[in-house]
Amino acid sequence: MSAALALPWVDMRQVTVRYGRVQALDQVTLRITAGERVALVGANGSGKSTLLRVLHGLADASGGGFQCHGDMRLAMLFQRPHMLRTSAQNNVALALWLRGARWRDARTAALAALQRVGLQDIAAQNARTLSGGQQQRVALARAWALKPDVLLLDEPTASLDPHAKREVEALMADFAASHGAAGPAHPVTMVFSSHNLGQVKRLASRVIYMEHGRVVADLPVHDFFNGPLPEAARLFVKGELV
Ligand SMILES: Nc1ncnc2c1ncn2[C@@H]1O[C@H](COP(=O)(O)OP(=O)(O)OP(=O)(O)O)[C@@H](O)[C@H]1O
Ligand SMILES: [Mg+2]
Repeated sequence: MSAALALPWVDMRQVTVRYGRVQALDQVTLRITAGERVALVGANGSGKSTLLRVLHGLADASGGGFQCHGDMRLAMLFQRPHMLRTSAQNNVALALWLRGARWRDARTAALAALQRVGLQDIAAQNARTLSGGQQQRVALARAWALKPDVLLLDEPTASLDPHAKREVEALMADFAASHGAAGPAHPVTMVFSSHNLGQVKRLASRVIYMEHGRVVADLPVHDFFNGPLPEAARLFVKGELV
C-alpha cells in the first residue's frame, strides 16, 4: 500500500453537535482513510445526515476535534437532488463554471459527464422535467465532472424505484472504483447513508451503525453482517432485513 492510501482523509475526535437540547452527534470518534467505502446506518434521527454534513463542512461541531487531510475536493448528493430550471447539461456545466472553468469548456465537460451516466440523449432537456432517477444521475454526473476525492451521499436512492435504484447503485460503484483528480494513487473515498442493507452489503467496505448520535458499531462490512454485534445493532439489522 502506498503512503497516499494509508493517509486518513479525516480524523474526528469526540465530535459533538447540538441543536438546542438535541445531541445530534455525541462524542463521535472516527478516522476515514482514502479509498474506503463507508456506509452509515441507523434509525431515523440517529445522526447520519448530521455526520455527513459535518464531514462536508455544512455543519459545525459544537465540541471535539476535527482534522482533514490536505486539500481534498468534496462533492455531496442528497436524497432529492437540487436541479436548476435549465438543461441537464447546463446544470452540470454551472458547477464547473462556478469552480472557474470557461463556459465553453464547462459545457463540453458536462456533456462527457452526462455520457458517463448514460444521459447524453437528454442533455438538452430541462432538468426539472426529468424523472427522479434521471435527476439523481445528473447529480452524479455533476459530482463526477468536479473530480472529487471524496463523495458524500445522503440516502441517494431512497426515493427511487428498484430499476432506477440499481442504475444509481451501479454508478456509485463505478465512482467508488475511480480515482480523484490527483491520479490513480488517490482513490475516491465514499461515505453514504442508507436504510437499504442490501445496498450496504453491495457497496460498502465498512459499516458504521449509529444510535442517538453515537457510533455504536464500526466494522468491516463482512463482520457487520456475519459477526457478533452490540444488541441494539443486531436488532436493527434483524428488523431491517425482515
Ligand atoms: N438543523 C437542525 N435543527 C434542529 N435539529 C436538528 C437539525 N438537524 C438535525 N437535527 C436533529 O438531530 C438529530 C439527528 O438528525 P439527523 O438528520 O442527523 O438523523 P438521520 O440519522 O439522518 O435520520 P434519517 O434517517 O431520518 O435521515 C435528530 O433528532 C434531528 O431532529
Ligand atoms: Mg438523514
